[in-house]
Amino acid sequence: MFTNRFALVAMVLWIATVAVFAWFFVRGNTTAGTDGRTAVVLAPAERDLVLGEMRGLLSASQQVVLGIRQGDMKLVAKSARAAGMASAADVNPALMAKLPVAFKSLGMSVHRDMDDLALAAESGKGQADLLGMLSDTMSKCVACHSAWQLQPVQ
Ligand code: HEC
Repeated sequence: MFTNRFALVAMVLWIATVAVFAWFFVRGNTTAGTDGRTAVVLAPAERDLVLGEMRGLLSASQQVVLGIRQGDMKLVAKSARAAGMASAADVNPALMAKLPVAFKSLGMSVHRDMDDLALAAESGKGQADLLGMLSDTMSKCVACHSAWQLQPVQ
């Protein structure tokens, strides 16, 4: 009887622990934002790193548009690839754990799109197709920006 009860308590504690970890994993380190969006709370250096990556995405997108306009597919491929999966590979695990799952999957899908765009440019896709792909990708930038904010931890 005693061991049964003990096993039950251990089991309940175990489930509670797993549930708490799962909750934090899905939710990340978030709080209510200042303007109706959800804020992801990061250490100042982590926030700087993410914002630096963002500026990289903006400049890659600008270079892709320039490349498409000039018919320079090498420039399109090079710029898109600079914002591809390889650019996200070295993000540290502590920072990754603070980002909500939905945020990470949207971010990763943007990096994957950029790699697809580089391949499309190299495989001779036309300007309209490439612009269409970039436009679809940039709707993900817009979607994420309308949902999330980055706050430095106080
Ligand atoms: C997964 C979410 C997400 C995606 C996808 C995303 N961003 Fe961001 N970005 C953010 C957040 C959050 C901020 C901070 C916004 C705030 O605090 O108001 C930000 C900020 C920025 C900034 C401001 C940088 C600075 O120095 O302040 C730029 C520029 C930017 N993003 C460009 C882009 C571009 C271009 C894309 C798409 C190619 C993109 N982002 C995709 C989440 C995202």
